[in-house]
Amino acid sequence: TMLLGLCTCLLWLSTSGLWTAQAKDSDADMSVRSQHRDLAPNNVDFAFSLYKHLVASTPGKNVFISPVSISMALAMLSLGARGYTRAQLLQGLGFNLTDTSEAKIHQGFRHLHRLLMESDTTLEITMGNALFLNQSLELLESFSTDTKHYYELDTVVTDLRDWARAHKQINEHIKNKTQGKIVDLFSELDSPAMLILVNYIFFKGTWAHPFDLASTKEENFYVNETTLVKVPMMFQSNEIKYLNDPVLPCQLVQLDYLGNGTVFFILPDKGQIDVIIKALSRDTMQRWSDSLSSGPVDLYIPKVSISGAYDLGGLLEDMGIADLLTNQANFSGITQEAQLKVSKVIHKATLQLDEKGVEEAAPTRVSRNEASEPLTIHFNRPFIIMIFDHFTWSSLFLVKVVNPT
Ligand SMILES: *[C@@H]1O[C@H](CO)[C@@H](O)[C@H](O)[C@H]1NC(C)=O
Ligand SMILES: *[C@@H]1O[C@H](CO)[C@@H](O)[C@H](O)[C@H]1NC(C)=O
Ligand SMILES: *[C@@H]1O[C@H](CO)[C@@H](O)[C@H](O)[C@H]1NC(C)=O
Ligand SMILES: *[C@@H]1O[C@H](CO)[C@@H](O)[C@H](O)[C@H]1NC(C)=O
Ligand SMILES: *[C@@H]1O[C@H](CO)[C@@H](O)[C@H](O)[C@H]1NC(C)=O
Ligand SMILES: *[C@@H]1O[C@H](CO)[C@@H](O)[C@H](O)[C@H]1NC(C)=O
Repeated sequence: TMLLGLCTCLLWLSTSGLWTAQAKDSDADMSVRSQHRDLAPNNVDFAFSLYKHLVASTPGKNVFISPVSISMALAMLSLGARGYTRAQLLQGLGFNLTDTSEAKIHQGFRHLHRLLMESDTTLEITMGNALFLNQSLELLESFSTDTKHYYELDTVVTDLRDWARAHKQINEHIKNKTQGKIVDLFSELDSPAMLILVNYIFFKGTWAHPFDLASTKEENFYVNETTLVKVPMMFQSNEIKYLNDPVLPCQLVQLDYLGNGTVFFILPDKGQIDVIIKALSRDTMQRWSDSLSSGPVDLYIPKVSISGAYDLGGLLEDMGIADLLTNQANFSGITQEAQLKVSKVIHKATLQLDEKGVEEAAPTRVSRNEASEPLTIHFNRPFIIMIFDHFTWSSLFLVKVVNPT
C-alpha cells in the first residue's frame, strides 16, 4: 500500500524543482534563489555522465565520486587554459558558452563553494583545491589572482624532482587542510609531475532521524551469486519516504541529514544495478521525486566508510575533454613556459555512513498503527547512494556499493 500524505507532497514540492532544467518563474524571489542554482542542471548532467563512464570502466567494483568537486576543479583549471583547450574544458563540463559567459560560470562556482562551506555545522563538509607545482615554474599573476578569487586555490611550490620528499609534503598539506581526515593521498610509487592539481572532499552528515545504535547487527550482504560478506547492518523503523518503482526494477528511500543534505538510497532488483545506473538522469530523478511517498518502513542499510581514489585523466578524455593530457593542451594562462600539460587529475573522496543523528528531545517516531504494516527494505545486495545538497542542488556524492567491506 502506498500512503500518500499531503504533508509529504507539499514538502516535496518545495524542492522538486531540483531536476527541471530552468527556473521558469521570473519573480524577484526566484531570481535570488536561482542564483545559487544556476550551475545545477549542467553540474547534475555532468555528474551522471561521469558516474556512468566510471562505472563502465570498473565493472564489479565500488565506485565513489564527488561530482560537484570535480566540476569545480576542472572549471578552475580552465582559468589557466587558452584557446581550444579552454573551450573544451568548459564544454566538457556541459556548459554552453553561447548561453553562459565564462565569468558567470566562475562566479557561479565561487558562490557555490561558499554556500557549501558555510552550509552549517551539522553537515560537515571539507572541500578544497590545491595546486602543487615544481619550483622551476613561475605562475602568471592573473592565474594566481583568479584562482584565489573564485576557487580559493592553495598554491604550493615544491621541488617535485625529489618526489620521495614532495609526496610527503603534499600529503601533509592535504591532511592539514582536512583536519586529518584525508591522509596519504599520494604514495612514493606515484609518478611525479610539473604540476599537480588536487581536489579533495570530506563529508559527514548527521541524520535527521538517526539509526538505532543498539540495533546494528552483523548480517549477510550478497555481493553476487557466489560471494557473501558480513557487514554491520544499521536499522531504523520510521516514517520514511520510499518508492517501489513501477517503471525501473528498484526500490528507493530518501533520508535527510540535518541541514541541507539529502540522500537517496536505491536498491536495484537482484542483478539489475547496471540497468538502474544506465537510467539515471535528471528526468528519472524528477519522476522519483514526484512519486516518493511517506510511510512506515523498516529500513536496513550497511554501515560503511567508503573512499575512492581515481586518476580521471583517461575518463575525461572519453568524455570529450581530450586535450588535457596531451601535447595539444594549451595552458599558457598558467605560466609563460610553453608545452605545459597536466599529467594527473587525481580525485579522492571519503564518506562515512553511520548511525549518528541528533538526540531527539521529543522522538518523532510514528506510533505503529495496526492497519499499516511497515514495509521492509533491506540493503543487503549491491546498491546506489546519491547525496545531494538541496539548497544548491549539488551532487555531492554518487556511489555504487558492490561490496561494502
Ligand atoms: C595558446 O593559446 C593562445 C591564445 O589563444 C595562443 O596565443 C598561443 O599561441 C597558444 N599556445 C600554444 C602553445 O598553442
Ligand atoms: C548553445 O546555445 C545556443 C543558444 O541557446 C544554441 O543555439 C546552441 O545550439 C547551443 N549549443 C549546444 C552545443 O548545445
Ligand atoms: C623542477 O625544477 C627543477 C629546478 O628547480 C628542475 O631542475 C627540474 O627539472 C624540474 N622538474 C621537472 C619534472 O621538470
Ligand atoms: C599544518 O598546520 C599546522 C597548524 O596550523 C602548522 O603549524 C603546520 O606548519 C602545517 N603543516 C603544513 C605542512 O602545512
Ligand atoms: C563475485 O564477487 C567476487 C568478489 O568480489 C569476485 O571475486 C567474483 O568474481 C564475483 N563473481 C561473479 C560471478 O561476478
Ligand atoms: C542551507 O544552506 C544555506 C547556504 O549555506 C544556509 O544559509 C542555510 O541555513 C542552510 N539550511 C539549513 C536548513 O541548514
